Amino acid sequence: MTETLIQLPSESTLDRAVTLLGEGRLVVLPTETVYGLAANAWNREAVMRIFAAKQRPANNPLIVHVASVDRIGEAAALPVDGSTRQQFDALSDLWPGPLTLVLPRSEKVPPCVTAGRDTVAVRVPSHPVATRLLERCPFPIAAPSANRSNYISPTTAEHCARGLAGEVELIIDGGPCDCGVESTIVALDRSGARLLRPGAVSAEEVARRLDVPIERLIRQTQFEPGEIESPGMLREHYSPSTPLFLLAGNQAVDVLPRTGRIAFSPLDTAEATQYDRLETLSDSGDLNEVARRLFAALRRLDLLGLDQIHVDVCEPIGMGRAIMDRLCRAAAKHQP
Ligand code: TXA
Ligand code: MG
Repeated sequence: MTETLIQLPSESTLDRAVTLLGEGRLVVLPTETVYGLAANAWNREAVMRIFAAKQRPANNPLIVHVASVDRIGEAAALPVDGSTRQQFDALSDLWPGPLTLVLPRSEKVPPCVTAGRDTVAVRVPSHPVATRLLERCPFPIAAPSANRSNYISPTTAEHCARGLAGEVELIIDGGPCDCGVESTIVALDRSGARLLRPGAVSAEEVARRLDVPIERLIRQTQFEPGEIESPGMLREHYSPSTPLFLLAGNQAVDVLPRTGRIAFSPLDTAEATQYDRLETLSDSGDLNEVARRLFAALRRLDLLGLDQIHVDVCEPIGMGRAIMDRLCRAAAKHQP
């Protein structure tokens, strides 16, 4: 592999990206959720390069990205059954945006993209650079988050360069991601809609659009052992190397000499001085801001070689559901 270039999205950079993708190379692109590691979804060898670069298990399928809702049919079979079609229409109104739908796979999508499943995850991202790139591509783009498997998803071009240097030729820098957590994944079929991953679109919003009780939507999102509908939703995921502890309820956690703290809102001085390093994610505790800045703060603290990181928790409602999902997984490695 050649040296990795980070470039701002000029017209010529985008042209170069389309050429590289057409040749079966990998390109990192910004989306509104996290950065993605992109390949031509029609090209089996290019897709296999994604799995190798990320060290991702082959049984974990990829999301296919297209430029607009009317191109979803290039990757997925649109529902024809009346009520599933209604649900599709209600949710596809959220596109372009941070929503992924799992639908029956189109024959054109190679099995390696879907890990041999007969469903495919599809999404229309809203980041203007992703849109400009996808509009120029005569093929859909398969893209997981642009991090090594099991590490924290990247929300800046620098995060991608640090994790994937030498594995990609081009990183398109679209600035820090606006959402900061990955897309919400919903499976749609005749048995109804199921939330497979909470994300930047709240589960409450999905339930409201589908006019179903939220309990019916979320029944499969917990860390169930055994059969799991979305293989990426394993218990230990998004893990920093430094032990992470959630400051939940009245659970006592010792502050060791070299402890970092991620606070969702400003701490009082007495508490702040206990910590070796403090990251305050929002002045007002706004959970959208917390989500936007969380992964970058985790990465910064993880680079310091601290003994541990303490992090705030929030109610798992709205954006709080995606935040708590990621934090529980990030902390799972260090739980008994
Ligand atoms: O926001 C996002 O979704 C980002 C940006 C780059 O689009 N992408 C992303 O991809 O988070 P990745 O690969 O890190 O996570 C995709 C998740 C995995 O948990 C995978 O198991 C699940 O989607 N998935 C993909 N295809 C699936 C399918 N056919 N059925 C069930 N789950 C699927
Ligand atoms: Mg990922």
